[in-house]
Amino acid sequence: MLGAPWVLASRNAGKLRELRALFGARGIDVVDLRDVGVAEDTVAEDAIEAYESFEENAVAKARYFSTLLPGRVVVADDSGLAVEALGGAPGVKSKRWSGRTELSGADLDAANNALLAERMRGVADRRARFVCAAAWCDGRDVAVARGEVYGHIVESPRGGNGFGYDPRVFIDELGMTMAEATVAEKGVVSHRARAFAALLAAVRAGRLVGA
Ligand code: IMP
Repeated sequence: MLGAPWVLASRNAGKLRELRALFGARGIDVVDLRDVGVAEDTVAEDAIEAYESFEENAVAKARYFSTLLPGRVVVADDSGLAVEALGGAPGVKSKRWSGRTELSGADLDAANNALLAERMRGVADRRARFVCAAAWCDGRDVAVARGEVYGHIVESPRGGNGFGYDPRVFIDELGMTMAEATVAEKGVVSHRARAFAALLAAVRAGRLVGA
């Protein structure tokens, strides 16, 4: 594809694992931010995600890193969990929902999942969906696309794969929680897989907007 290798603009190890598999399966070479020497700036990078929609946040991330990497194609995603009974929360706030800004990785996931369990205690309507907006930027143009997958919040966590809210979300199409699925199984139905498949179709079809 044009401009390969593309840069995966994420610091999340779980996302990167899935994105490498998704792009690898399509024969598109990718590298990550560390590979191209972009040191992490947690304050600046957290500040990018200030919007109310997944699409705006994904585009903001792709644009931000594209500015730091002239001549490179950058792809980014913004994703999260939307729970019906919580009015769509945590939504775009999924990463920092617990407010435990001092945590990261598995510790942050555990804090978020503890809050989810607390908020869902005794709640009958357990429907939820994962949402992902994927964005592409070549420094001039931008493309963005969405993917979703549906399920419900389980009473007790199940499975040791994946990341984030995966152990807490039973996925209808898989018949198991997202954390019980392998990377390959998750990659067939996930919000991220769907968003990036739609994104690649948009890029190939030239459905771009000026950056
Ligand atoms: P982002 O890095 O701002 O897009 O935040 C994504 C957050 O949403 C993650 O930190 C997780 O808490 C949650 N999330 C997004 N995608 C997934 C997924 O595939 N499984 C589980 N949790 C996810």
